Amino acid sequence: MSPGESVLAPPDGVMVGMEELVVSQSEPLLVSQSVDVDDLRHLLHCLVREDCAHSWRNFGPEGTLDELLQWENERRPTKLFFFYVRRGDDMEMVAASAVADKLTRDFPHDGFCVLGRCYIMPQFRGRGFYRDVLRYRLEYCKAQLGDALNAVHIGAIDDRISRVITNHGLAGWPKFAHLGIEELTVAGEVRPVGAYMLFSPEFVGRMRTALAGDDAPPCVVELRKALCESDAGDVRNLGSVVKDSFDEARACGWFEKRDPREIERVLHFCSSIPLVGFDDGRSTG
Ligand SMILES: CC(C)(COP(=O)(O)OP(=O)(O)OC[C@H]1O[C@@H](n2cnc3c(N)ncnc32)[C@H](O)[C@@H]1OP(=O)(O)O)[C@@H](O)C(=O)NCCC(=O)NCCS
Repeated sequence: MSPGESVLAPPDGVMVGMEELVVSQSEPLLVSQSVDVDDLRHLLHCLVREDCAHSWRNFGPEGTLDELLQWENERRPTKLFFFYVRRGDDMEMVAASAVADKLTRDFPHDGFCVLGRCYIMPQFRGRGFYRDVLRYRLEYCKAQLGDALNAVHIGAIDDRISRVITNHGLAGWPKFAHLGIEELTVAGEVRPVGAYMLFSPEFVGRMRTALAGDDAPPCVVELRKALCESDAGDVRNLGSVVKDSFDEARACGWFEKRDPREIERVLHFCSSIPLVGFDDGRSTG
């Protein structure tokens, strides 16, 4: 593969090539939406042999990129990204990952992206590449959606991922807040997964508009506080906190003259994941 031919056109403000994703060892990553047949086979074989919660274990060890994309897109609109380092004239695959611009094909609200499927090849682990793969995907979401980006979701079963996303240190990006727990079935086994969400400051601002005003009851104060803390990275079970306070605020008439729709979208997202034990009365679609 020649980088000039297949390197992905980057999001605005992200440079291609050596400067694009520089890690601590100064080893640049290149990114592509295509993958060599042998690289993909090798990746899938590694992945199915490993006791990890990666959903491509459900896809299996054989299959082409087109088949994998079709498998992903039956569930939701997804782009796949493959990351490489240069080795002389060759490229060596470091990682694969995905970005979906919806939670499910049927989820009705735009602006809620999902990052998933990150797999770093075993020989490249422990070198800090996860943060770079995360950053690339966040910038991609921002470049695709601009101001329409409301939030970005990640499910994290591995401590290494939750550690990074709650303390990523990426300039210009809030941290991910813990929404609750979701369950993922991988290779026939159900595993609890931490559900996290990063809210854009603009979206948080719009939610807070619905909470502005004097004489707010304690539930509204609680809701404001929860949203304020959502980018601090140390909040737990934000989904339930928002839901309980929101239900109380609605019951006491707070939203009779205010627009609750942005907060309702978040609750709809939580119920559609679905978070374990979370029921906002909607179907999980
Ligand atoms: C989970 C995964 C993507 C993380 O990538 P990685 O290369 O191992 O991790 P990184 O080197 O980027 O480090 C990420 C964090 O984990 C920590 N870490 C790295 N290796 C570690 C280890 N062996 N033990 C404990 N922590 C470790 C790092 O210190 C870093 O945290 P910090 O930035 O706060 O210091 C990778 O291990 C993987 O692909 N695993 C298999 C597939 C999988 O489980 N994918 C996720 C589910 S979809």
